[in-house]
Amino acid sequence: MTTPAVPMRLLPDGAAVETDGSLSIASCRVTDLAEEFGTPLFVYDENHIRSRCREAVNAFGPDQVIYASKAFLCTAMAKLVYDEGLLLDVATGGELYVARHAGVPGDCLVFHGNNKSLDELEMALTAEGGSRPGVRHVVIDSFDEIDRLTELRKRGLPVPRVQIRVTPGVQAHTHEYIATGQDDSKFGFNLGNGDAARAVERVNETGCGELVGFHCHIGSNVFAVDSFAKAAEVMARFAQPYELPELTLGGGLGVAYTLDEEAPNIASWGNVLLDACASLGLSSKIMVEPGRSIVASSAITVYRVGTVKDIPDIRRFVAVDGGMSDNPRPVLYSSGYEAFRVTDVAAERPDHARLVGKHCESGDVLIFDAALPAGVKVGDLVATPVTGAYGHSMASNYNKVPRPAVVFVADGRARLVVRRETMDDLVRLDLP
Ligand code: LLP
Repeated sequence: MTTPAVPMRLLPDGAAVETDGSLSIASCRVTDLAEEFGTPLFVYDENHIRSRCREAVNAFGPDQVIYASKAFLCTAMAKLVYDEGLLLDVATGGELYVARHAGVPGDCLVFHGNNKSLDELEMALTAEGGSRPGVRHVVIDSFDEIDRLTELRKRGLPVPRVQIRVTPGVQAHTHEYIATGQDDSKFGFNLGNGDAARAVERVNETGCGELVGFHCHIGSNVFAVDSFAKAAEVMARFAQPYELPELTLGGGLGVAYTLDEEAPNIASWGNVLLDACASLGLSSKIMVEPGRSIVASSAITVYRVGTVKDIPDIRRFVAVDGGMSDNPRPVLYSSGYEAFRVTDVAAERPDHARLVGKHCESGDVLIFDAALPAGVKVGDLVATPVTGAYGHSMASNYNKVPRPAVVFVADGRARLVVRRETMDDLVRLDLP
């Protein structure tokens, strides 16, 4: 049985099949990009990202969409989402630094994290560039953080606007590593055992922050909109008596990675969340922080095949020049991907092989059972779609494999936004 070609819906909006069967994105031929920038290469369709940002702003309203920068962050990406009118969620001092380096004003940043250090909180409270010092708000995650903010207040630092992160006790249907709404979670204050209500008291008693709202995030890559509706309802019910101006309902909208997956779009996710809050008469401003749904399907990763190994009656292995260092998701979460050959992207895929990387372990797998076009051979360019989120951002240089370059393509032009790591980069932190 043959598998159909990779569907266009898994490719960036600007993807097209050229007359010779080869893939282009935003009128840039991917074979040319691989030639110019080398492989592995992340190719992002800039207009695709912009269109998802606009879809989100249309669904929720300006000043209500916070891009979860952990999904993919570099200077150009921070500038792009800021330019589209989104706020940015930064979950560490490092993410905050990159966003500020890109020129995003402090008051367009939301500071997250379950274990923020005193130094990171100080960075957040003094972030510059906005109309007043500090980030737009800090999402408080623990009683220890309340203590640290209280300490900073005593030292005379500006008092931040804060939201309190609540764990609503809602089970999201996703991989356990990325589910966060259940009671047994390292994140936030449990609603069920009264910690969330106690956190409100502590913030008010200590004056460590100006409480403006609540926050929850039930997990990532969630497809079941009823999980979101449930969480929105639980949160709206909890938040209502406090009459605070803001409620953040997290990110988490899933995306389709494979032929058999189908995900709700951002607009319908918006309807579900906003309806759930409206039906309870909640008047707070509803904020969301999508990452994956903004950026995942905007990019592909292009690899060069280097080795094909056939073990008769057992399996064929097709090895490419990247692997778990540029995409650890298959290994971490058993995530599925599709693959195609760049030069005949619309071809059926009758062959099967394990698509593997170049790292020194058998677990270094990109696709356990990849459907591939006939006769994939050494030198071919093979690509995996939907790698725009949690790919480059979770990349490592395991085995001292340099991290790939990232290009943004738009209107027939490609610009390098993250250069490929060099051998020199691999020793730049080493001391003799
Ligand atoms: N807000 C908070 C507080 C989060 O922790 C996250 C993701 C988001 C928003 C954005 O969620 P998204 O819309 O991207 O689903 N590395 C994993 C995903 C980890 C998600 C961490 N938090 C993966 O590759 O699937």
